[in-house]
Amino acid sequence: MLGEIDFFVSKIYASKRMVAFTGAGISVESGIPSFRGESGIWDKYDSRNLDIEYFYSNPDKAWSVIKELFYDNFGKAKPNIAHKVLGLMQQKGFLKSIITQNIDNLHQEGGALIVHEFHGNSKYLVCTKCGLRRYISEVNIDFLPVLCEKCNSLLKPDFVFFGEGIPREAYEKSFNDARNADLLLVVGSTGEVMPAALIPSEAKRNGAFIVEINPQPSNFTNSVTDLFIKGKAGEVLLNVAKQMGLMLENI
Ligand code: APR
Ligand code: ZN
Repeated sequence: MLGEIDFFVSKIYASKRMVAFTGAGISVESGIPSFRGESGIWDKYDSRNLDIEYFYSNPDKAWSVIKELFYDNFGKAKPNIAHKVLGLMQQKGFLKSIITQNIDNLHQEGGALIVHEFHGNSKYLVCTKCGLRRYISEVNIDFLPVLCEKCNSLLKPDFVFFGEGIPREAYEKSFNDARNADLLLVVGSTGEVMPAALIPSEAKRNGAFIVEINPQPSNFTNSVTDLFIKGKAGEVLLNVAKQMGLMLENI
């Protein structure tokens, strides 16, 4: 792995517009299981609860699964070394932006400055009628389904449900940054979900060198990846940070 890391670091130093594309795997070391793979979230929970039609027709049931999954279980997760290294790389000017499929807010909490949230953010709730938007800690979610304090309509987490479109601004900024990247780092994604999974090939088509970090091969590995670094995000990125002399406080 170390030879690959040296080569990756040389690519980072030579890059003018490096972008990162992350999936659930980067948050696994924060205690949030991935969706797919062994003991994935979709093995335990029915993804139907995150289907927008089902949510509107069964708000009680959907909200009780969503509360257990995203708030009771994973709501207290903290950023891990991988989030902090990407945050530091961005603060030091090595990384232009992070395009994430994740809704856990951990890139921001890990120090990232520019994050395009392709699937939204679970830390905010939004009213399905009047558009009121509240940070999760400002809302009491003990009484389900969660209703709007202003118009009493249904509140929903501000992430993209199955059957919903991608937020326009996140979509445009993500593809734009991918098209202009000269180096794209892909971390912790199977590449199973569209249209997010098109982002690495968009970068590749426009000349970017693709580096992938994942303990397992993914849909990207034999199609767009130029350098595959087999390993966990935290371990690999800690080695990258050490190689670059990036000091990580209180890791
Ligand atoms: N470090 C890096 N990668 C890891 C780690 C780790 N410690 N542990 C697991 N992985 C990898 C797995 O090998 C897998 O390739 O993370 C990936 C997780 O894949 P998925 O669970 O499919 O996550 P993702 O690709 O982000 O899913 C995309 O699917 O359900 C929807 O909206 C949801 O954003 C999500 C989308
Ligand atoms: Zn409202």
